[in-house]
Amino acid sequence: MGHILIKNIKGLYGIDESGRQVRKGAEMADLPFIENAWLWIKDGLINDYGSMTDFNMFDERFTKTPGIDIKDATGKYVLPSYIDSHTHLVFAQSREEEFVMRIKGKSYEEIAAAGGGILNSAAKLRAMSENELLEGAFGRLQEVMKYGTGAIEIKSGYGLTLEDELKMLRVIRRLKDISPIDIKATFLGAHAIPMDFKNRREDYIKLVIDEMLPKVADEGLADFCDVFCDQGFFTCEETDRILQAASKYNLRAKIHGNELGITGGVQVAVKNNALSVDHLEYMGQEEIDCLKASMTMPVALPNCSFFLGLPYAPARKMIDAGLPVCLATDYNPGSSPNGRMGFVVSLACIQMKLTPEEAINAATINGAYSLGLSETHGSISKGKKGNVYITKEIPSLAYLPYSFGVPSVETAIVSGKKIAVNY
Ligand code: NIG
Ligand code: FE
Repeated sequence: MGHILIKNIKGLYGIDESGRQVRKGAEMADLPFIENAWLWIKDGLINDYGSMTDFNMFDERFTKTPGIDIKDATGKYVLPSYIDSHTHLVFAQSREEEFVMRIKGKSYEEIAAAGGGILNSAAKLRAMSENELLEGAFGRLQEVMKYGTGAIEIKSGYGLTLEDELKMLRVIRRLKDISPIDIKATFLGAHAIPMDFKNRREDYIKLVIDEMLPKVADEGLADFCDVFCDQGFFTCEETDRILQAASKYNLRAKIHGNELGITGGVQVAVKNNALSVDHLEYMGQEEIDCLKASMTMPVALPNCSFFLGLPYAPARKMIDAGLPVCLATDYNPGSSPNGRMGFVVSLACIQMKLTPEEAINAATINGAYSLGLSETHGSISKGKKGNVYITKEIPSLAYLPYSFGVPSVETAIVSGKKIAVNY
């Protein structure tokens, strides 16, 4: 199973046989394609592709494979699935009351300082069972897969006690077990200082380092370790200590940084050889120079800027400086209650002045790098996973981001199997 042949594709985009892990700077403008193409996914992997002019329906590879699913994609495009490298998909409830407070003039930081925000989510999550959390998260995961996401990262960070952080990570592990898409789990115990540790933050950091991290590692519950390194949350020095402790358990760093100010988050990420540093709404030249001398991927989360009214990460400037840029949703109830990568790609074009090709590279190949999935995901390459989506009938590639908010994915395919058809 997992055999699918797609023919008459108007444009097969995101082809890459170079083995490159990242597209950066000027390379981001290039999204190689074949017009009028076919794509053959066998045993869940991309096996071959080419131009319809060389296509033979009676090729033995197709006729001798039983159970082959044949799709005609006349007028439609095929692209590699999106990689959503930053989400908080496991959460208890939505937070629209804070949304209304912000409309009336309160800031995200003011709401957080008054016990709302992350602490509000933590209080709700602590009251829920693992099964209840799983049910909600599973529904959201199904939904984002329908809209073209083919691999995803999910963070803890709404537990903020040993038991509740483990509960969240166990939910993520169960999602991994029951879902066809690849999931990476990130331990984010240092997301906020919980209320009962308000005047003894050092004790909370000790709890993260001495109790949470060893247990998370012992149960093999996480792939990465994240810290919210920003004003009002964790300092650079605290972040550094937590990440150094995490590295002893082979948990690579992925940081929330520079969302609320220029606070040294980029520098502490690079110092710890973080796989990515995410948010970056506030960036100076020093931060750009620092990233240039590193292997750390800058990840922009434009949904968050859109929803909270923050500045957008200067992604155009970063690409022009030769950096790679990655895009992710940040799907969470506080700053991005929308997990559709297509909308993120539109925002990147409209607000950050990325071209459609740059934004799609940022959401695919560079996303795969941000999750350590470069070998298997992020491009149309022989041997990579058969994770693609077929668009609806659309006039051009640029129509995808142009038609913002209108989902253009018709058929999502993961490991060569159809996930959903949206009409
Ligand atoms: O990435 N900035 C920190 N964490 C999340 C928001 C968490 C929340 O408000 O619930 C983010 O935006
Ligand atoms: Fe986040």
